[in-house]
Amino acid sequence: MNEKKDTYILGIESSCDETSFSIVKNGRENIATIIASQIDIHKDYGGVVPEIASRNHVKNITIVLEECLEKANMKMEQIDAIAITYGPGLIGSLLIGLEAAKTLSFIYNKPLIPVHHIAGHIYANSLVKELEFPLLAIVVSGGHTELIKMIDHYKFKKLGGTVDDAIGECYDKVARVIGLPYPGGPKLDKLAQKGQPTYKLPVPLKDDSYNFSFSGLKSAVINLVHNEEQRNREIKKEDLAASFEKSAVGSIVLKAKKAIKNEKVKHVILAGGVAANNKLRNEIIKLGNEMNVDISVPPMKYCTDNAAMIAAAGFYAYQAGRIADLSLNSKSSDKLS
Ligand code: KG4
Ligand code: ZN
Repeated sequence: MNEKKDTYILGIESSCDETSFSIVKNGRENIATIIASQIDIHKDYGGVVPEIASRNHVKNITIVLEECLEKANMKMEQIDAIAITYGPGLIGSLLIGLEAAKTLSFIYNKPLIPVHHIAGHIYANSLVKELEFPLLAIVVSGGHTELIKMIDHYKFKKLGGTVDDAIGECYDKVARVIGLPYPGGPKLDKLAQKGQPTYKLPVPLKDDSYNFSFSGLKSAVINLVHNEEQRNREIKKEDLAASFEKSAVGSIVLKAKKAIKNEKVKHVILAGGVAANNKLRNEIIKLGNEMNVDISVPPMKYCTDNAAMIAAAGFYAYQAGRIADLSLNSKSSDKLS
């Protein structure tokens, strides 16, 4: 009997401030993943400085590749294809990963597979549970807030998205306003767990669409903080954090519920950096139980940027015949398709 050959994908991620390589088997099994994070370097600046991020990718990239191959105990010759985040992200950062991917593809004669960063966040879930279709991906990250329906592997349909800020961006801004250091999102999450939602804030965009809006909520928090400061009243930071989360997460749950019902989905997944948020994870799990659908929330290690998710997505992109040539370019923004 002919046994099906295993497929090993080398994933590369460098779209922001993490340099990461990973080897994933058959789109589901993480063989080895190495991530070099630059959080400590950028924290002094209150955010990622693109020029510094690029320079550090250059410094790290060959070291991280070597460590990854060593950890997997594999050689480049054993890799079937190379998956690379071509976008969206910081252009200088993206280009360094892309040039590494192209060089490896050329030297070792391996197919080059372009992966959209958000496809990566979605496929992080396939490292823990097989995706079932129709599927609803709730994409919540620093740059994206979208509801994506999938009827099969690598078939993405956007149901709706933010009309202004992304939810992660809003978390970071609110965190800064209440005096939390970078990266603010996770710190705001921790603080909110100690508080009660006592401040009245709007739940954004309670309409019939699948869209979101976070700029009004962000402004409401900023105004509230300024007003309290002018009145010399102390802000209960943990209560304000809990109130903000109630509104922000509430709006995601509201639209997700509608999509689950109308689009007859079988499987709901969380994807992106904000998938690490405790309240969102709990509320989505609750929603799944209530509506009798399968729910996947990625483990924390797959919420932040990593190359395992790119390699996992790359496997399914490879199966769908999405192979690029060496003219592939990075894109700072691009639609998921
Ligand atoms: O996925 P990601 O790296 O961004 C993009 O790819 O665009 O996610 C980063 C975002 C940041 O805005 C960060 O503050 C937020 O995810 N984040 C969180 C949490 N962990 C990360 N936001 C809320 N709660 C968290 N626990
Ligand atoms: Zn990301």
